[in-house]
Amino acid sequence: MKVALLGLGTVGAGVWQILTDRAGRDPLLEQVTVVGIAVRDLTKLRDPSVPPALLTTDAMVLVSDPEVEVVVEVLGGVESTLPLLKTALDQGKHVVSANKALLARHYRALTALARQREVYLLFEAAVGGGIPLIQPVRQCLGANRLRRLVGVINGTTNYILTAMTQSGVSYTQALKEAQAFGFAEQDPTADVAGHDAQEKLALLSALVFRTAIVDLADIPREGITGIVSEDLRYAKELGYGIKLLALAEKNAAGALYLRVSPHFVPQAHPLNRVQGADNAVLVEGEPIGQVMFSGPGAGSGPTASAVVSDILNIVARQTFQDPHFMGEPLCVPELLPALEHRGRFYVRLEVPDQPGVIGLVGHAFGTAAVSLESVVQKASQGTRAELVVITHWVKEGQLQQALQQLRQLGMEIGSVLRVLDEETPGHQFS
Ligand SMILES: NC(=O)c1ccc[n+]([C@@H]2O[C@H](COP(=O)([O-])OP(=O)(O)OC[C@H]3O[C@@H](n4cnc5c(N)ncnc54)[C@H](OP(=O)(O)O)[C@@H]3O)[C@@H](O)[C@H]2O)c1
Repeated sequence: MKVALLGLGTVGAGVWQILTDRAGRDPLLEQVTVVGIAVRDLTKLRDPSVPPALLTTDAMVLVSDPEVEVVVEVLGGVESTLPLLKTALDQGKHVVSANKALLARHYRALTALARQREVYLLFEAAVGGGIPLIQPVRQCLGANRLRRLVGVINGTTNYILTAMTQSGVSYTQALKEAQAFGFAEQDPTADVAGHDAQEKLALLSALVFRTAIVDLADIPREGITGIVSEDLRYAKELGYGIKLLALAEKNAAGALYLRVSPHFVPQAHPLNRVQGADNAVLVEGEPIGQVMFSGPGAGSGPTASAVVSDILNIVARQTFQDPHFMGEPLCVPELLPALEHRGRFYVRLEVPDQPGVIGLVGHAFGTAAVSLESVVQKASQGTRAELVVITHWVKEGQLQQALQQLRQLGMEIGSVLRVLDEETPGHQFS
């Protein structure tokens, strides 16, 4: 199997290392040969085991080489890289990609091409880094009715939230630390604003629920930049941690709800134990109940492990007949409007520190039919006091109504976070 490797950076170098150091790995690797490697800069210092003759700066010429059977794209970039993948598929070559940003935006066009040309488009590394997710969920959980997927799928934000929780440092300090240790980019927006998790969720949800991909614009997204140390402290006091979660949930009527946002996660919940830059995804279905996949969500070796496993799947032709990988048309999912979604919420409020204020708060929530699990006054500063409210199950629309009334009463909404529950409401497993 003749492979063109596009990119020899963090992931590409890991792929090269596995493909050229085969002892003790799958014997099918013997059938894989790298016939060319595309890079941007030929003068860069590289692993000395890479023959300079394999390197080229013209990725398109390499992709179009008739000898190439599989194109492995670990370049990054969206619009500039898309023509390379389209050309590869159009010429009947299989494609393996780790590029979630590109796939989440151009999945439909690429799968349509893959279908036309009867080739594979595999991307295990794009959704969970080193964690095997696509193959196990689709091949080993196929007997289940899958209902919910919830995960910590961005290592940078998990590193920052873990540091804020464990050392009590501010968001800014934790971000600086993450950048110093190489867990965050100099421009961290894609991670901290939730874009990276949103792209992965779009792909994962399509795979788990076997639907066409949902547009990124239809996935509500919040990052972690608004989380302050008070939220983490109150979470801890109430028995929770805070995690940036990606959630895809199917309701009883079959409508899908997708969201990326910080959540209160019960301290005993397995997702709360995911520390540092690790990732984990919990898949819930009937009859299996809950299954969790966890491990390194990024990094050279782990991501290369997923890329090479896709190459091996092509060599072994193990994924044939799966519509996603052969690009068959899939149904467009019905989406549940965000305001219709039910959940429990944590609300941190700043209120005037005066008698009767808790009654006013209770009344505002009550008028919007939001029943409360607890209301606790946490701190007062001068004429203002901080209140922490946990609601019972309500529709997001009702909560928004209550928040609107509270604002009209001169109360300031500090934070609103969702609370993760053990199981999808109304879906108790017997
Ligand atoms: N890093 C991770 O842990 C991780 C995890 C999961 C998924 N991914 C995805 O994997 C992809 C690659 O990430 P990475 O971290 O390996 O990136 P990287 O370290 O920046 O490497 C990019 C590589 O692509 C080459 N390149 C870029 N543009 C090119 C062009 N126009 N023509 C030819 N070569 C070009 C670069 O060449 P030079 O070497 O000459 O600069 C470099 O070798 C991205 O889509 C990323 O989202 C990464």
